[in-house]
Order: sequence, then structure tokens, then C-alpha cells
Amino acid sequence: MADTITIIDNRTGKKYDLPIQHDTIKALDLRQIKVKDDEFGMMGYDPAFMNTASCVSKITYIDGDKGILRYRGYPIEQIAENAQSFLEVAYLVLKGELPNKKQLEDWRYNIKMHTMVHENVKTLMEGFRYDAHPMGIFISTVAALSTFYPEAKQVRNAEVREKQIYRLIGKVPTIAAFAYRHSKGMPYVYPDNDLTYAGNFLKMMFKAGESPYKVNDTLEHALTILFILHADHEQNCSTSAMRVIGSSECDPYSATAGAAAALWGPLHGGANEAVIHMLDQIGSMKNVPGFIKEVKDGKGRLMGFGHRVYKNYDPRAKVIKKMAYEVFEVTGRNPMLDIALELERIALEDEYFVKRKLYPNVDFYSGLIYQAMGFPLDLFPVLFAIGRTTGWLAQWEEMLTDPEQKISRPRQVYLGSGSRNWVPTIDRK
Ligand code: CMC
Repeated sequence: MADTITIIDNRTGKKYDLPIQHDTIKALDLRQIKVKDDEFGMMGYDPAFMNTASCVSKITYIDGDKGILRYRGYPIEQIAENAQSFLEVAYLVLKGELPNKKQLEDWRYNIKMHTMVHENVKTLMEGFRYDAHPMGIFISTVAALSTFYPEAKQVRNAEVREKQIYRLIGKVPTIAAFAYRHSKGMPYVYPDNDLTYAGNFLKMMFKAGESPYKVNDTLEHALTILFILHADHEQNCSTSAMRVIGSSECDPYSATAGAAAALWGPLHGGANEAVIHMLDQIGSMKNVPGFIKEVKDGKGRLMGFGHRVYKNYDPRAKVIKKMAYEVFEVTGRNPMLDIALELERIALEDEYFVKRKLYPNVDFYSGLIYQAMGFPLDLFPVLFAIGRTTGWLAQWEEMLTDPEQKISRPRQVYLGSGSRNWVPTIDRK
């Protein structure tokens, strides 16, 4: 059986055989379909990229119907269970294979050598108002790094790219913690490279005064897992932003800032913050049925539910839900957990949600853990961005080294006015 598809254009009766590869046809092959020779030719129309593959990738595999997520072939459940550190998983996501002992040591060393930020970065951050949203500070500061490392624009140089990858993965926790401490009016705490990626971040966030800060093992482990679960998620909104911006061959700091901006919205990485606002608004268990009714009546969404790709339980939400109980053993139970569990119970039985295949996603329980750990709500998207920086960079590297990729430039279907003559102001109605 030939791997082709035959299209008959009923406008002309002409028949076209298009090759099929990996269950896709090349959109450019549609261009030959036209009524008249001087026409542009046919295109695919796909607002929001519901059914368009924009790249080939070897990084992350998702089967949304079955609730499967794998990084480089390894199931997320196995990774969460066995990984010793976030940086081990970052290596896997970026380089494609699990590191051996030496590779991991070198990788850790290289990243830890880049956890400090230039003192001028601090000055820059001090310029923000005391009540500036930390995600705004994070995005702006990451973008500003391009001015500190002008060589970063040499994106066709593999060595230069690698150096910026070390810098970005090394510095994002530092910038995130400084953004938080800025909003609290607290002095910044410098990175401690003897600690793990998550442990160092906790210390930079929460160390108070001169007393030594002891990292809690359970919370460090929980944060490591949360960073791991957020490390990559194939061609989502922010990753697509990273690829599109990076395709113009700008430096990776500018592209990462753009990706982080895309992440900030409440339909993407801002959803974990929105979940807590929603739970807060519901307030008590007795209000849950009324809230569900409002959602079903179209007066708002059940935040932390639903996903463009998952039409089953998000495997990351399963890991997080289990971990929540371990965290609450240390921090005390988040009183909003019961409301969340009740929402989930009702939604998983209710026809509205069942029919639309709306299940809890990664953001439904992560906010409850972050909150119990003492992170303020407006830092939640920043925490997401720390983990996801690895994925953005892996996708950026893959895009730049893929010979099929070019500058991103979608087409449009123009439905505006035809050509018309300019009207002087005096003659306008
Ligand atoms: N609550 C209530 N109804 C919903 C929800 C929800 N959370 N999500 C989707 N629906 C309904 C929607 O109204 C529509 O119904 P109908 O067919 O009657 O018009 C149907 O389900 C399909 O929804 P859609 O908006 O066409 O689906 P989408 O693939 O465009 O949107 C989504 C995906 C994640 C934006 C959406 O499910 C949503 O807004 N969820 C809440 C926000 C959220 O939790 N976002 C985090 C996503 S996971 C992490 C990440 O990517 O950052």
C-alpha cells in the first residue's frame, strides 16, 4: 500500500497524490492545488494550531488520550521516582541521554559556576517598584541578561550556545529568588553552590538574617519533583513562543523572556495562581456545588482543569497529588485541599466535565503545595518558569540545529477590503 493520500479538487476534477510521512502531509504540498495557474494555491487553515505539527522533535512524547508523558522516552513517573536531582533530568532533556557519573559532575559544575548574577543585575532589579509582580521582574531581568552577554547572539556557534544554556539554567533561580526578596524588601541571598538546585533556591528565598538556614529534606525533594514535572511539555504556548522568537536568530535571553511572557497568562502557567484564587473564592465545601453550577452555566472556568492535549488525567497531576500529602506532613495541611478534592470528585462524575474530557491538570494541585511551602501566589508562575527554562532551551537548540527549520512565518487568510482609494479627511463620513 502506497504511503500517499489522494485529493480530488471538486472545483476542477483534478486529482493529486500527496506523500504521507509520519501520519502527516506537508502543508506546502497543498500549494499545487489551484483552479487557475496564477493562483497562490491551497493552504491549511488552523487557528491556534489545533492540528498542525510545526516541527519534528525527539525531546518529549505525550499521548493525551492515554495520559502518557515521557522525556526522551523515559516515563515521567519513573523519572519522578528515580531522579536524584533536577540537574540530572535537565541533562537528559537537553542532551537526550541520562548522564554517566562524570558527565553529571561536569554538567553540575558548569551550571553551578553560573549561578551568580552580575552586581549590575541587582541594581537593575532594585529599580522595580516594591509591589512589582515577580513574574514581571523575572521576565524583564532575563531579557536584560542579553545586554550582559552580547556574544549570545552568535546562535550558530554551538560552544556559545552551550555557555548561554549553563548561564540561563544557573541564573533563573537566582533571579526568581531576588525578585521575591525585592518585593519583601529583604536583602538578596547569594547562591550556595554546595546545595542542590532546589535546596539552593529554597535558601535564597527563605534564609532570614544571619542564622544558618537548614534545608528541609522533604520540601527540597518536593521542589525537585515539581521542577522536574515542569521541565518540558513539547509544543505548548510558551515553547512555541521560544521557537518562534528564536527562529529569527535573536539571542536566547530575549527568546526565553518572550517564552516566559507567554507562560504568564492564566490559560497557561498562570493557572496555578488562578486555582488558589478560585479555591479562595469558593471558600468552603458547602459552596462547591454552586460553583460547579456556575462553571457549567458558562460563568467562568474550573481553573486547573482541562488541557488542549490531555483528554485523560494529566500524569503530572497524579504525581503532585500524591506528593501533596508528604509536604503537608511537614507544613501542615493546606485547608483548601478539601475544597480541591471535593471539586475533583464532583467534576470527575459530572456529565459536563466527563463529556468534554476535562481532568485535573498539572496546575490543579501544584499551587496548594507551593502555598503550603510558603511561596506567595504571585511567585507561582516564576516557579513554573524555573523548571521550564530547561525545556525551552532544549527546544531552542533542537530548532536551531534542524536543517528543515527557518524563520517562523505563518500565512493568513485575508478577508479585509479589496483595493480602494484614499479618502481625504474632509470627505470622510
Ligand atoms: N472549566 C470549564 N469548562 C472548560 C474548561 C474548564 N477548565 N476547559 C475547557 N472547558 C470547556 C469549554 O468551555 C468548551 O466547552 P464547549 O465545547 O461547550 O464550548 C470545551 O470544554 C473545550 O474547551 P476549549 O476552550 O475549546 O479547549 P482548549 O483546548 O482550547 O483549552 C485550556 C485548553 C487549558 C486553555 C482550557 O481547558 C482551560 O481554560 N483550562 C483552565 C485553565 C488551566 O487550567 N490552564 C492550565 C493548562 S495545563 C498547564 C499549562 O499548559 O500551563
